[in-house]
Amino acid sequence: MNSGHQEAGTATATATEVVLPGLVEPDGLVVSSRPLPVAGAGQALVRVEASGISFAEQQMRRGRYPGQPAFPFVPGYDLIGEVTAVGPGVEHSLVGTRVAALTKTGGWASHAVLSADTLVPVPEGLGAVEAETVVVNGLTAWGLLHRKAKVRRGQTVLVHGANGGVGTVLVQLARHAGVRVIGAASPRHHDALRALGVEPVDYADLDALVARVRELAPGGVDAVFDNIGGATLKASWKLLAPKGTLVSYAIASAASGTEALVPQFIALLARLALWSALSNRGRSASFYDVWSGKHLRPAHFRAVLHQDLGTVLGLLADGVLTAEVGARFPLTEIAAAMKLAESHTVRGKVVLIP
Ligand SMILES: NC(=O)c1ccc[n+]([C@@H]2O[C@H](COP(=O)([O-])OP(=O)(O)OC[C@H]3O[C@@H](n4cnc5c(N)ncnc54)[C@H](OP(=O)(O)O)[C@@H]3O)[C@@H](O)[C@H]2O)c1
Repeated sequence: MNSGHQEAGTATATATEVVLPGLVEPDGLVVSSRPLPVAGAGQALVRVEASGISFAEQQMRRGRYPGQPAFPFVPGYDLIGEVTAVGPGVEHSLVGTRVAALTKTGGWASHAVLSADTLVPVPEGLGAVEAETVVVNGLTAWGLLHRKAKVRRGQTVLVHGANGGVGTVLVQLARHAGVRVIGAASPRHHDALRALGVEPVDYADLDALVARVRELAPGGVDAVFDNIGGATLKASWKLLAPKGTLVSYAIASAASGTEALVPQFIALLARLALWSALSNRGRSASFYDVWSGKHLRPAHFRAVLHQDLGTVLGLLADGVLTAEVGARFPLTEIAAAMKLAESHTVRGKVVLIP
């Protein structure tokens, strides 16, 4: 029985959501309604204020996301919203709080029911759209830098996809930590990267990229953050300084291919393990997953979620990080929003507002 906690006098009895019904073009995404969900024990009902389009949804639309959810489902990797009701066992004082949530799916909706202990409060004064830009992107970037690579002031790092969602936050966090950043991106993004204190390099020609990074860092770089895979990953390994760290976190180059993903991931993990094992210069290579530990060490996972996301949201509220908002769309205009996100012409997060 949770009626004592549920929102009284809810204005709307239905929730709006966007459903990905199968392998469709952006126009095939379906906007639909369903009864307003109810928070069960340990849960909270969140009225979504902002969600975002990540590269993950672009992969999911093609059925090419590692750990692809079964169709049909509601996409939406993360969200910002206000708690409007709580279920049994949850402090009523949570109602009215603006929170951030990492959802993997379900964010493209007007309402979501979520585990209350995974909701991270958003600092006062921070807008929902701005906060949305650093949920999955900020968590991932912080984990890559500080949990995996453990970068130190004065080091030099190479960031692939430096203008992307994760990359934009990563380069800002690295600069804040006193790290020199070389960022690989298309030339049209170079001025914006320079404004963030990044030394940009073009990734169109891999040999030219390697030569340019060697010019900028003749002794090698202390860490590389690689979301591309394939030949780029091999180049990343070669560019490491002794004791350097390569952190892979995606195979973007596989998203548009047709080869099965699982063998590619197994080959990637095997290659990283082999490089680390055979390295004679103290270099290491590993994969980072923002979800690691969720099932095996759930309490630790929640603690990391609160600590890291809380820190990143705090840095945004303090003005250390700049929210890069590429565009805002009503949730119902999902097809146009998706097309823009997939066009690779926009810099910053495409944010959906229910
Ligand atoms: N392991 C984890 O825990 C974790 C967490 C979050 C995200 N991810 C993954 O990290 C990747 C980046 O996510 P995001 O949301 O930051 O993506 P995004 O905003 O689309 O950024 C991708 C970046 O990679 C660059 N890029 C270069 N070659 C590419 C290619 N062949 N295909 C696609 N992009 C290419 C893009 O440059 P241009 O714009 O110049 O094309 C862009 O800067 C995704 O694959 C996502 O699934 C992993």
